[in-house]
Amino acid sequence: LYPFKDGAFAVRDGWYVAAWSHEVGRDLMERWIVGEPVVLFRRQDGTAAALSGRCPHRHYPLAAGVLKGDELTCGYHGIVFGADGRCLRVPSQDRAPARYGVRAYPLVERWKWLWIWMGDPALADEALIPDHAAIGLDDTAPLGQGRVAEPINYALVKGRYQLLNDNLLDLSHLSYLHAGNIGMGEIAQTLDDVTFGETWVRSHRLVKDAAPPKLRQPALDDGVRLDRLIDFTFHLPGLHVGLERSSIAISDPDRPGEAISDSIVYHAVTPGTADTTHYFFAMAVHETDTPGGAARRFEAVRRSIGAVLDEDIFATEQIERMITALDPPPRDMMVRSDAAVVRGRAMLQAAMDAETARAAS
Ligand code: FES
Ligand SMILES: [Fe+2]
Repeated sequence: LYPFKDGAFAVRDGWYVAAWSHEVGRDLMERWIVGEPVVLFRRQDGTAAALSGRCPHRHYPLAAGVLKGDELTCGYHGIVFGADGRCLRVPSQDRAPARYGVRAYPLVERWKWLWIWMGDPALADEALIPDHAAIGLDDTAPLGQGRVAEPINYALVKGRYQLLNDNLLDLSHLSYLHAGNIGMGEIAQTLDDVTFGETWVRSHRLVKDAAPPKLRQPALDDGVRLDRLIDFTFHLPGLHVGLERSSIAISDPDRPGEAISDSIVYHAVTPGTADTTHYFFAMAVHETDTPGGAARRFEAVRRSIGAVLDEDIFATEQIERMITALDPPPRDMMVRSDAAVVRGRAMLQAAMDAETARAAS
């Protein structure tokens, strides 16, 4: 699947965000992940479970069944499954053959995410989930450096997941796609410094002495200029963590270097089907960042961020429309600002190649 090799869709041996914690309860919920239907729910003790969402009998969606206690009954002909996926009863016969069971996916609840592992369960090591203390999300310790984090948005995007990853790996788009809110012209002209490891790609960019983005202008004095740090890390296979820090330009005679904002954004990109993607957005801010504290800041973010995310979703869906209408899909041209895109794609392709090699051995 474009932009990957033929036959390569998505990394399977990796943790993806399947849902926000608050989305999953005692109602059965279907969500397609890496091309497979998954049914999500909570057991009576509150722990979340993820099973294959298709009844093996006649492919009825298990999310259209009934959950009673920890047993899920298919809504078509009544085959009963445990929360571990085992087949417990078949109404018309005495025996419940093991082959009638459905797959249970490893699922881990951390912070306010539910992380799912779609690949080989033997490889599902929780240590591979990005370190929540290191990225400013921690359940137990007070959030790193006095930050408060909140889920902000979920969207089902009608486009393949890599278009969204590419979007987040190439932030030069802020200057154009988001010119009316968070963009600054200088972002696209400032080349990012790209570093990478086997499981991450980092894009670091410092924009100096630039006019503030439109969204910030009302709160700032006329003529004030900003320095802005944008430092994003893409963690294999689908989490982008971005640190954004703005301050009054160091060249300002009155308030040089004064902090304006300091936040971390989290974009989780989870492949759905070949042309749909789950897009989760969260944010962490400093309690002291805004008069009125974090609650006020989140309120403002919730009001303003929708327009920004809609622009990214628009771009993704429109590009999906272009490339699916053309056969074969067009090749894209790389420019200098694409270093992180190239690295990010290479990282995912290498992980997919490694899976293929494991499957063959
Ligand atoms: S389709 Fe589920 S029991 Fe028949
Ligand atoms: Fe964007």
